[in-house]
Amino acid sequence: MSNAESTASLEVRGEIRTPGDKSISHRALIFSALGVGPSRVRAILESADVQATAEALRAMGVPIPVLGPDIVIKGVGVGGLSSPAGPLDCGNSGTTTRLMAGLISGLAQCTARFEGDASLSRRPMRRVAVPLRAMGASVDFEGPEGHEGLPMRVTGAALQSIEWDNVQSSAQVKGAILLAGLAAGVAVQVREPSRSRDHSERMLAARGVSLEVRPDGVVLAAGQTVQPLDVEVPADPSSAAFFIALAALADSGSLTLTDVCLNPTRTGALDVFQRMGVDCRIENVRTMGGEEVGNLVIVPAALRGTTIGGDEIPRCIDELPLLACLAACAEGETIISDAAELRVKESDRIAAVVANLRALGAEVEERPDGMRIVGSTRPLRGHVATHGDHRLAMAFGILGALPTNRITIDDPGCVAVSYPTFWADLARVIVPADTSHAGGRPRGSAPLVIAIDGPAASGKSSTSQWVAQRLGVHHVDSGAFYRAIAYLGVQSGAAPEAWSADGLLAQAHRVGQRLTERSVLPSVDGLDADEALRDAAVTRQVSRVAQMAAVRQWVNAQVRQAANSTDVVVDGRDIGTTVFPDAALKVFLIADPWERARRRLIQRLGRHPIDPEIAEETEALVARDALDATQSAPARDAITIDTTALTQEEQVARIVALARAARR
Ligand code: S3P
Repeated sequence: MSNAESTASLEVRGEIRTPGDKSISHRALIFSALGVGPSRVRAILESADVQATAEALRAMGVPIPVLGPDIVIKGVGVGGLSSPAGPLDCGNSGTTTRLMAGLISGLAQCTARFEGDASLSRRPMRRVAVPLRAMGASVDFEGPEGHEGLPMRVTGAALQSIEWDNVQSSAQVKGAILLAGLAAGVAVQVREPSRSRDHSERMLAARGVSLEVRPDGVVLAAGQTVQPLDVEVPADPSSAAFFIALAALADSGSLTLTDVCLNPTRTGALDVFQRMGVDCRIENVRTMGGEEVGNLVIVPAALRGTTIGGDEIPRCIDELPLLACLAACAEGETIISDAAELRVKESDRIAAVVANLRALGAEVEERPDGMRIVGSTRPLRGHVATHGDHRLAMAFGILGALPTNRITIDDPGCVAVSYPTFWADLARVIVPADTSHAGGRPRGSAPLVIAIDGPAASGKSSTSQWVAQRLGVHHVDSGAFYRAIAYLGVQSGAAPEAWSADGLLAQAHRVGQRLTERSVLPSVDGLDADEALRDAAVTRQVSRVAQMAAVRQWVNAQVRQAANSTDVVVDGRDIGTTVFPDAALKVFLIADPWERARRRLIQRLGRHPIDPEIAEETEALVARDALDATQSAPARDAITIDTTALTQEEQVARIVALARAARR
């Protein structure tokens, strides 16, 4: 919906296949493990949640390969599974916890302790514990007295059959009971008030398991074996929803989303979108991996409020934060009810969505089981606290992509839970704004990005600062975000050789973004950490963490987020190649190693260095260049500037002139 107040305009263009469906990916791993023999899985979601399931299965003796677009899992069957040697770290993943708890319950002589991050540890596990105990498994909560969540120990047994009435529809609870029954070889029946997503039923049936799907639930026969199966995982409709909303909110253009899973237990959001006026055409409907899929073509439309509740809720539960954000930009009022379950997701999604929408200036009323949102064309401005919740980061990321809004997000990296390439996909489909207006960026148009890359000590950081100052835009030093991660490593006390990307990124929620007058800087634990990040111990380890692909992805997400709402000059190694391949201007700074060493020493020592000092520093720089070589190459359309014989003032003047030309 266009904003009456300004000439802001958002154009979207392109095609996205959102990553593989998260629910189907977990189940593809688990059911492939249970079939004896090879199952090929294509397009599995490579995200933190799915990695947690893969890791849990590996710990139980299943040779799950490194996740990739086309993998083969050599299933070991129920008999090939064993107790994991250590605790199962489920990270942020409720699905991993509940499904694996069901599986272990059905394996006599098998026991495992389940652990998770702070968010997962707060989530209720009683809902699986009660039916699994009723079947004969032991489920013990090992946290504080009365806390029915992780850490939890599950011990399997020779289970008995069960007929279970789920008070609250839940595919995870249903899946847990089905897995317990399958593993123990006993019949189970699960009834639900309304149908939860049925991926388990579909995938098990396709693997030769006899089950009966009834209007009120599912019945699994006793003594079933799971056969191997080759599947292709459809694109995740919950991830696709973000781009449906983006295209609907845009002013022009269109987006195509391919291979989107159209399983009717997952299409609640499509129904809501339609009532809100979203123009979404479904094309080329077909079957993939036992699921209906189709391509969606979305064009901008005027949006109106709606009511969402009742049986529709389980069919759009994961999209509700996004729908609430969309409602804030629609005409009229939207009411979400019967959705108290949102309070026990990765965050309390009712409280968090309401607080964030309010912080941005929207009118919202919190209700015990939902919220009331009053839509408006007012620009939304402010800071979003994600509570590490991936869906909140992405929902507000869509609002942040609208040119009239100015939104910063505290933890953009948390999208890794379900959609690691979200920010890159978002940047890819937004058409760079028309920058033909004189005097800089037209009000409300997409932000301008100037990418300045180059090897160590090429002067990119200080030059970029000056350039940003001259142009009146913000400077983002991507290196500072690598430093923030190195700092977390140093602070952990672990030997740097033992650092892993996963370990470092588990702490990354502590790193936030601080907007000063002319820079976007990392903060640590909410505090200015500029000095600590320049510490020699941190400097020594920056290269190490910058070699880690997952860390690079995290930093890239931070930088893209910073550039979401403001014009920026960004410096780094791969800004013009990887982070902003569409940057308005790309500059690659080079300089003779001797000269770079000399400049660095002047900065460090505060005096002119003598030749032996420069020689030693040159050697260190050349070694560092070799380490960094893979990620420091100029983009094909970059303008290379050799600064060996230039003063800093000359470098800055050249880049400012190029930037002004690029803006025109
Ligand atoms: C999921 C089921 C849903 C959903 C979650 C994934 C699954 O939760 O919200 O993101 O894969 O089974 P419930 O089981 O609580 O419905």
